[in-house]
Amino acid sequence: MTLTSSVHTLFSSLTRQKELFHHSKTRRPFVTLSFAQTADGCLSTTSSERLYISHAAALRVTHQLRADHSGILVGVETVITDNPQLTVRHVPGNNPLRIVLDTNLRIPDTSSLLHDKCGHVLLASDQNAPLDKLQKFETLGAQVLTFPCENGIPLPLLLHKLFDLGIRDLIVEGGGQVISSFLAHGFVDFMTVTMGKFFIGNEQAVRYRVTEPISLEGFNAISLEENILFWGSPRPVQLAPENSVTERHYASI
Ligand SMILES: NC(=O)c1ccc[n+]([C@@H]2O[C@H](COP(=O)([O-])OP(=O)(O)OC[C@H]3O[C@@H](n4cnc5c(N)ncnc54)[C@H](OP(=O)(O)O)[C@@H]3O)[C@@H](O)[C@H]2O)c1
Repeated sequence: MTLTSSVHTLFSSLTRQKELFHHSKTRRPFVTLSFAQTADGCLSTTSSERLYISHAAALRVTHQLRADHSGILVGVETVITDNPQLTVRHVPGNNPLRIVLDTNLRIPDTSSLLHDKCGHVLLASDQNAPLDKLQKFETLGAQVLTFPCENGIPLPLLLHKLFDLGIRDLIVEGGGQVISSFLAHGFVDFMTVTMGKFFIGNEQAVRYRVTEPISLEGFNAISLEENILFWGSPRPVQLAPENSVTERHYASI
């Protein structure tokens, strides 16, 4: 696949951000958040239904992004719901190490990624997870890393561990809880969002949350078939106070 020049600008920005990242100071991988959302900000209609937001061109970009990272990470709910492979298929490239956040080892033992022989799988779980499950997944070829957990997998410890294992760049694809956790910890160095044309307006829809207002530095956007792809580096932003210029500006529109 040849990337169009507009897509090249995305990869140039990503490469530049990776070059600026201080591994020696942070001792963690560079983190790219990459997901698809509806025009009203939903990741999925409900946690048990799949919505195809990305069209072919955007899918190729997603797979190119995967090939550009040494690790890929999702939450266990995404594996339970979507049974994803998390491999590079739509473009040439190497598969990243696949990592699942799974405190209690709830991942179904029939999950594709445990059987497809497309590269290593790492399950991040609680140190108190049942031993029989841990042994079962190790027998299936997965590596199980255990952590002291209070509220899910502690991301700072996990990222340091991944760094020690040689992972220098990590793509985080979802779902909503995982995206929210990475954003809340300030561990997102770059993000790409594929926006689709749907508005689903469903109370049960899967969404992500931001705890603090953020804005994307180096913001850029391109149109790809029926998607808009935008990207940038999240930075905290001060919102204007009530009755501020912004409000007066809106009133004047
Ligand atoms: N549109 C997209 O790009 C996209 C991408 C991926 C997924 N999705 C959709 O997202 C939905 C799943 O999202 P979801 O929000 O329900 O779940 P999720 O983010 O996939 O997984 C969340 C689960 O991960 C585990 N976890 C462990 N440590 C965590 C931590 N530090 N932070 C966050 N989670 C942690 C928790 O389960 P335990 O407590 O059991 O460990 C938690 O319930 C599916 O419908 C899927 O189709 C959409």
